[in-house]
Parts: sequence; C-alpha cells; structure tokens
Amino acid sequence: MSNNRDAIVIAIDGPSASGKSTVARLAAQKLGFNYVDSGSFYRGITWKALREGLDTSDSQQVVALINRIDFVCFLQDGAVEFSIDGEEPGEQIRSQPVQEHVSDIAAVPEVRVFLVNMLRETARFGSLAMEGRDIGTVVFPDSPFKYYLDADPEERARRRYNELAKKSEYNDVSEVYDSLARRDHKDTTRKAAPLQIALGAKVIDSTRMNAEQVVDVILEDIRLAGAKA
Ligand code: DC
Repeated sequence: MSNNRDAIVIAIDGPSASGKSTVARLAAQKLGFNYVDSGSFYRGITWKALREGLDTSDSQQVVALINRIDFVCFLQDGAVEFSIDGEEPGEQIRSQPVQEHVSDIAAVPEVRVFLVNMLRETARFGSLAMEGRDIGTVVFPDSPFKYYLDADPEERARRRYNELAKKSEYNDVSEVYDSLARRDHKDTTRKAAPLQIALGAKVIDSTRMNAEQVVDVILEDIRLAGAKA
C-alpha cells in the first residue's frame, strides 16, 4: 500500500472541529512521527485552481489541472508539506475563497484518486499521524491504528468559535454551528469517499476530553501493540 512497509500509520478521521488536527499533531510530536494534514492537500489544489481562474464546479477543468501540475511533497519541521509547480501556498489555503470552493474540488473522483496516492506515498518519509475524512476508510484502511474522533456539535461549534474569534469571521457561536452543520452534511452525504467510521476504527467522543487525554488513548494502543509484537 505504501512504499515503506515499516511505517506506522495513525489514521484520524472525524467531522470538522472535532479536534483532529490538535490530536494528530500532538500524537505525532510525542511519538516522533510526521504529521500530515490531508485537508491541506485538497485546499492546495483548490488554491491552485482559483489562482488559474478555473471554475471549480467544472470537473473537466479540475481534472485537466491535476494532470498538468507538479505536486511535490517534502518534510518540514516534522510535518509533510507540499509545493505546486514550485510554489508553497502557505496560509492562503485557509482563505475564505479556498474555504468556499474546497468541497467542489474534494467531490471530484479524479482529484481523490490523485491525492490518495500522494497521501499514501507520504509514508516513505516514515511513521505518521494523518488526519482527514477518509484516512481510515480509503487512504490507509489496513492500519491497525484507526480513530474516529467526534464531539457534540455544540462543543465543536464552541471550539471552532474560540479558535476563530480573533479573526472575527463569525458573529456568534450559532453562526459557527450552522456552518459546521452544512459542512458535516456535505462531507457525509457526498458520493465520493463520504466521511464514515472506518471498519475497525476506535470511536472517541472527545466532548468531555482534552487533546492530551485523547492522545493518551492512542499512545496506549501503540504501546500495547508494541508489547504484543
Ligand atoms: O479538514 P479541512 O477542513 O482542512 O478539509 C478541507 C476540505 O477537504 C473539506 O471540505 C473536506 C475535504 N477533505 C476530504 O474530502 N478528505 C480528506 N481526507 C480531507 C479533507
């Protein structure tokens, strides 16, 4: 599946604002693994498409784009990053236009095939913690360390609002709640690789847990697996 059979893969899926990034980053840091934010890859393609003035709802234009770009992954400070045609998008992948159009891009099956291959190949850099929506179901279904991180919608909205408060994109928590509900609906109902609990994944409800406590669950699983090996 990957070209590094010895790499340990921690696959973390879940809805928006369930704490995936914090948990995956912290787990990677504690274990000396690489961190991979798969959503950033979908955002990167979206950034490139918008930059070229493409209509992101026209899948033919999007497919032509992925066939001509040079998408290169590299390791930086314990995280897998990428460049597209020699450029790193940086924080631009978090911009409002990218945010608005990324679900169009993520719904194109050819984009998913392209990025699933890219994401699998990141295991060549070594063991990793990867977060996303289809990591345990599609990208690394054979990993013994699959997690589905969830939290009550109210708690997720509160976390995301606190995270974004400084950027003041939303007036109150209820706006964030509505926006998360729309994204959850899109992510779970789309035809291509919808967000689902992977077979054999451990479901963690983090509503009343902090990131450290969630990471402890993962570290304990890895420790036990090591003990059994
Ligand atoms: O996690 P995020 O918000 O950065 O994800 C951005 C978008 O990409 C979101 O619409 C879901 C999609 N995505 C996906 O379809 N599959 C993944 N593995 C990761 C993200």
